[in-house]
Amino acid sequence: MERLLIEGGKPLTGTLRVSGAKNSALALIAGTLLGEGVTTLSNVPHLLDVKIIAEVLESLGAKATLSEGELRVDATNVNNHVAPYDLVTKMRASFFVLGPILARMGKAKIPLPGGCAIGSRPVDLHLKGLRALGATVNIEHGFVEAIAEKLYGANIYLDYPSVGATENIMMAATLADGQTVIENCAQEPEIVDLADMLNAMGADVRGAGTERIVINGVPKLHGCDHEVIPDRIEAGTYMMAAAITRGELTLQKIRLDHMQAVVSKLTEMGVLIHPIDANTCIVKAPEDLKPVDIRTLPYPGFPTDLQAPVMALLATIDGTSMISETVFENRFLHVDELLRMGANIKTEGNAAVIQGTRRLTGAPVRATDLRAGAALIIAGMAAEGETSIGGLHHIDRGYENLEAKLNAAGGTLKRSQVADPLLV
Ligand code: UD1
Repeated sequence: MERLLIEGGKPLTGTLRVSGAKNSALALIAGTLLGEGVTTLSNVPHLLDVKIIAEVLESLGAKATLSEGELRVDATNVNNHVAPYDLVTKMRASFFVLGPILARMGKAKIPLPGGCAIGSRPVDLHLKGLRALGATVNIEHGFVEAIAEKLYGANIYLDYPSVGATENIMMAATLADGQTVIENCAQEPEIVDLADMLNAMGADVRGAGTERIVINGVPKLHGCDHEVIPDRIEAGTYMMAAAITRGELTLQKIRLDHMQAVVSKLTEMGVLIHPIDANTCIVKAPEDLKPVDIRTLPYPGFPTDLQAPVMALLATIDGTSMISETVFENRFLHVDELLRMGANIKTEGNAAVIQGTRRLTGAPVRATDLRAGAALIIAGMAAEGETSIGGLHHIDRGYENLEAKLNAAGGTLKRSQVADPLLV
């Protein structure tokens, strides 16, 4: 029962080190189930979501040990095909174990993950892919039950380049008999990271990072060592934190080549981004920035996960900006909270029109999901006076050491206990 208190109005300055990518780590951890042996992942962020998926693995018979940014998974004795309802429904990405468990054990029974604040998030494309590989898939009593004595390679066209569906199908296909081709698949860096790990485990996956992935099935996979890629969403959030406070940050351990749309849009606003080397850059924002229009899209387009933070930034830039959200149907829940801080934003369907004002004011607000929370934090850092943010459990799912990192760069963030549960 805590709230985050932010004293705003100070430019950020200093150096921030970006953690390993949450979204990549979650898929990689599910993928370790495919290997008969030990896989060690490094650069794993210390986050609640990582702990939850590690617990899912344990419930399936794997041994998962997490310490100091490293996760060691021994998947030799995976012996249970049923994932527990309470863990999977806590975190949607635990549904990624469906493909690996089906491929490894010939059957899998995984709870349907359910909806979430940003939209209905169906799994029809995951199931369509597994059916094409020869599985019988039924939904009963809230569980997805998939059975296939053997999976067979197939040509699969995804109606939408879903990240999760691409990952689930790619993992299942590594142990299928014959060749699988996934057309119109997701091209996110997290897909490439997963393919790299699967190949290090003995799989034959080609074309990851393009719209066509070809997987030649192999009889068995083994363990491997693999380093998780840097978190491009965390890096983007900190770039926007530097910009909204008109400050200057050095970001370490990033991959700018994964962030081209974000870098382009920030540059269009007038933010200066200087690469120092392959993994470091300086982000500096002058006082006067320019409004821009942004459309969220699957990679390499502008990421939906940075839509809320960039909206907070645009709310502080004089002039009119527009954001179209094309990936999730209900991802504007942060708008009402930004209005409480003095922003001027109107929404109509999937579009938001932002009339920027240099002056935001601190207010009590509530994070409705992870990235909405990030938007409120950076807005709070720019606003006059104190902002008090509730719903912190959302934020803790996705940002490692958030307060410590921002405080080390000149932020004033602290948690405070709240007695009244209605205020959290
Ligand atoms: C992943 C990311 C999430 C990010 C999203 C889009 C992880 C753990 N999470 O989520 O942070 O916001 O990609 O970049 O990696 N869809 C269907 N049917 C399906 C699957 C998806 O219609 O079977 C739709 C969804 O409703 C949504 C769109 O496709 O509108 C994108 O979803 P998807 O790419 O699958 O996102 P996730 O993998 O859930």
